[in-house]
Amino acid sequence: MAQGKRGLFGTRLGVILASAGSAVGLGNIWRFPSEVGRHGGAAFILVYLCFVFLLAMPVMIAEFVIGRTSKANTVDAYRVLAPGKPWMITGCFGVLGGVLVLSFYSVVAGWTLRYTSDTLLLRMTSGQDFASVFSAFSSNPWKPLVYQLVFLLMTHLIVVRGVEAGIERFSKLMMPLLLVIIVVLVGCSLSMQGAKEGLSFLLKPDFSKVTPSVVLSAIGQAFFSLSVGMGCLITYASYFGRETRLVSSAFSVCVIDSVVAILSGFIIFPAVFSVAGVEPDAGPGLVYITLPYVFGNVFQGMPVVGYVFSGLFYVLLLLAALTSTISMHEIVTAFLSEKLRISRRGAAWIVTAVCFLLGAACSLSFGLWSGVKVMGMGFFDLFDFLVAKFIMPLGGIAIAVFVGWYMNRKLVLSQLTNEGSLRVRCLSLLLFLIRWVAPVGVAVVFLNELLS
Ligand code: PFF
Repeated sequence: MAQGKRGLFGTRLGVILASAGSAVGLGNIWRFPSEVGRHGGAAFILVYLCFVFLLAMPVMIAEFVIGRTSKANTVDAYRVLAPGKPWMITGCFGVLGGVLVLSFYSVVAGWTLRYTSDTLLLRMTSGQDFASVFSAFSSNPWKPLVYQLVFLLMTHLIVVRGVEAGIERFSKLMMPLLLVIIVVLVGCSLSMQGAKEGLSFLLKPDFSKVTPSVVLSAIGQAFFSLSVGMGCLITYASYFGRETRLVSSAFSVCVIDSVVAILSGFIIFPAVFSVAGVEPDAGPGLVYITLPYVFGNVFQGMPVVGYVFSGLFYVLLLLAALTSTISMHEIVTAFLSEKLRISRRGAAWIVTAVCFLLGAACSLSFGLWSGVKVMGMGFFDLFDFLVAKFIMPLGGIAIAVFVGWYMNRKLVLSQLTNEGSLRVRCLSLLLFLIRWVAPVGVAVVFLNELLS
């Protein structure tokens, strides 16, 4: 391993903002509110938060331990820490997951790019039939591909600049901007007429809606939202310096991610409840069909406010998507450039090209290839299913078992305490979560799903 040539994050803030940038994405602003809307509001949020801190955060810390100890990409990390053992299969699945997730995620990010530009260029006007607009666009054979390609090239440009000058600098600029946009939007949304109803939907738990399948979606959502289970954070942690505090950084990332997800609900639901006849349970169409309609209605007579609000909302979604796609791209780019001993630029081009082609297949599954099914699913749903239902939970179990049971206990403790220089509160509780709660919890839910 050419360790001397590997990048390094420059500051502790950079570490937290880059990891939070990976975590905060479409998963928070698009997927989380649509899951909350479908699964009964606050009850889902409570279950979700338990999983974030009891299952996903321990796995995140385990990824940090593997990455910083090995200082290698996701596959080589296992080769370094467990030479000659089959653990590196976990890393290979992580790289595969990175390719699949970037492929289908960039399709949705491409839609977001189109909605952002249309909103800013005043091409979204109230009175349009947004369901038809969305379905005509997403099923068009080439238009979504153009937006997807442009988005992938934006990701590419950041990744090729490297860890500190590209990923860290971009995250340090974008994450604070993102938080400011969120606060402005929450403020506007809370002053809307439907704010009270929207808030009570978000804050009053209805536990009758929490079925076993809702519990499973909450776990899937927690892993997806925190980017854990695929080794994305192993790759990032391989760029952490010796002074980075693994446990407190992971805790900060989980808090930032959860706050952003919940605030996204505070942005969306007051707006949704401000328009009579609009339901909060539209699912994935919430952001691309329901919201443009809602924006048009809520801001009738206040076109400037409406323009600023909806423009900021889609810019927020776009930036959040971008800070996440750079981390997916990085998993695969780091692996290829170190494995094939080629330049970062060359590796990044391979990743961009492959993900564009696979992403094109996902995009076409909404139109021209809607009849092409594998295991009964189009490519988009298939990739999503493979990542969220298999690669992430199984990867999460393997990562927790690797650090909790396989790795030398002293080494793990030394990573968690920065060679004994830090006092980490609840260290034994944390080890218990990594050894038992995370693997058993995820395995039970995974098996339950498999058997049903
Ligand atoms: N956490 C990202 C989101 O919430 O949008 C998605 C993601 C990023 C998943 C990176 C997996 C990953 F490796």
